[in-house]
Amino acid sequence: MNDLLEAARAVQVRAYVPYSGFPVGCALRAEDGRIYTGANVENAAYPQGQCAEASAIGALIAGGARRIVEVAVIGDSDRPCSPCGGCRQRLAEFASLETKVHMAGRGGVATTVTLCDLLPHSFGPAHLAADRGDTSGRDALSVLRSRSDLRPEVAIMLGSGLGEVLEPLTERVAVPYADMPGFPTTSVPGHAGQLVLGRVEGTAVAVLQGRAHLYEGAPAAWPRVPIRTLKALGAGTILLTNAAGSLRSEIGPGRLCLISDHINGLGANPLTGANDDEAGPRFPDMSAVYDVALQQDFRRLAAEAGLDLAGGVYLATPGPSFETPAEIRAMRAIGADLVGMSTVPEAIVARHAGLRVAGLAVVTNLAAGLGNGTLSHEETLATAGAAAADLGRLVRAWLRSLAPAGKESAP
Ligand code: HPA
Repeated sequence: MNDLLEAARAVQVRAYVPYSGFPVGCALRAEDGRIYTGANVENAAYPQGQCAEASAIGALIAGGARRIVEVAVIGDSDRPCSPCGGCRQRLAEFASLETKVHMAGRGGVATTVTLCDLLPHSFGPAHLAADRGDTSGRDALSVLRSRSDLRPEVAIMLGSGLGEVLEPLTERVAVPYADMPGFPTTSVPGHAGQLVLGRVEGTAVAVLQGRAHLYEGAPAAWPRVPIRTLKALGAGTILLTNAAGSLRSEIGPGRLCLISDHINGLGANPLTGANDDEAGPRFPDMSAVYDVALQQDFRRLAAEAGLDLAGGVYLATPGPSFETPAEIRAMRAIGADLVGMSTVPEAIVARHAGLRVAGLAVVTNLAAGLGNGTLSHEETLATAGAAAADLGRLVRAWLRSLAPAGKESAP
C-alpha cells in the first residue's frame, strides 16, 4: 500500500489548483500490478474541474488497463481525503465493491475502507438490472464475454470451505460477483463470491466460488441470473457441491456423498413469481433432478480412483440454526440422508433451464443427536477443507473424462 500512497503523493504536488488551493493526488493499482496516477486540474470555470481520481482513471485507460484493484487518494488537510460522489461512481465502473480505498491527509493514510463502504447504494449495472427485474443473465453475460473468450461446457458450484479445490486453473480469469448484474453478494466466511473461468484437466469450466443462502437474507430466487448466465455462456451441465450433515451414522465426517435426489425443506421455491418462458417451462418436471448417467459416471470414476463414494437424498433447510435432534429424526423418517442449507435452489433453477445436474456433498459432521457434542460453522469449514482433497481428485477425474482426449479414450 505504501508504494501506492507514495505515487499519489508524488503526483499531488503537480496538481493545478489555482482556485481552490487544494491539491489532490490519486494512484490506482491495475490488475497487472502497474500503478497509474492523476492530480486534480481546475480552470476558470471552477468548480468544473477534474478530480484526481478521474485523471488517474484516464491514465489507466490510456495505458491499456481496465480493472482497478486498489486505490489511494491524498489531500492537503488534516482529515482523510475521500473521493467525491461522482468519483465513487467512476471508480465503481472499473473496480469491484471490495476494492480497498486508502484515504490520506497530510499525515499519511488515515483510513482504509472498501468501495462498498463509500458506495452502499450505487448506480452500478448490478442494481440497474435488478431494478428492471431482468433475470435472463444478459447483462452478466456481456461482462463475462468482455473479460474472457472461454466458453465453458461445465459449471461447478463450490460450497463452504471448498472454493479452492480446483485451483490453479489455466487460462484463469476471475470475475467478482459484484461486477455481474444480478449475481449475489455473499457474506459468509468460506465463500469467496467470484466466478472463475478457466481450464481444468483440459475442460473449459466456470467455477462459482461462493453462493448465497436464505439464512443471509437472500431470496430463494438468487440462482436465476447466475445459472441462466452460465447456460447462455455455453454450459450444458452443472455440478453442485456442498458441505452437509449426515443423517446416517455409517456415513461419517470426511466422506464424499453423491446426491441422488433432494427434498426441498426451504419453505420457498426459486421459481415462484412470473415465469420467464424463454428460460424454461412454468411447471418444470423434477422427477430426475440429478442426472442418472452423470451419477453412473461419478460412481465409476470414484471406484477407479479408489475413493469411497456414498450416496443419498439431500434435504435443504433454511438455517441458520442447525437442526434439533427431533428435527433430524423427522427428516430421517421422510427419507433424508443428508442435511444442509443450500443446493436445492440451484438444482431447481438449473433443471428448469434444461441443464444436466450432478450433486456432490462433503459430509462435515453427523447431524444433531447422532454424534457427540455440538455443531458449528467453524467445524463445517475445517472438515470440508480436510475432505476437499478427495472432492478435488474426483472432480478432476470427471473433467479429464470430459476433455477431448478423455472422450476419445473412453470405452
Ligand atoms: N445441518 C445443516 N447444514 C449443515 C450441517 C448440518 O448438520 N453440516 C453442514 N451443513
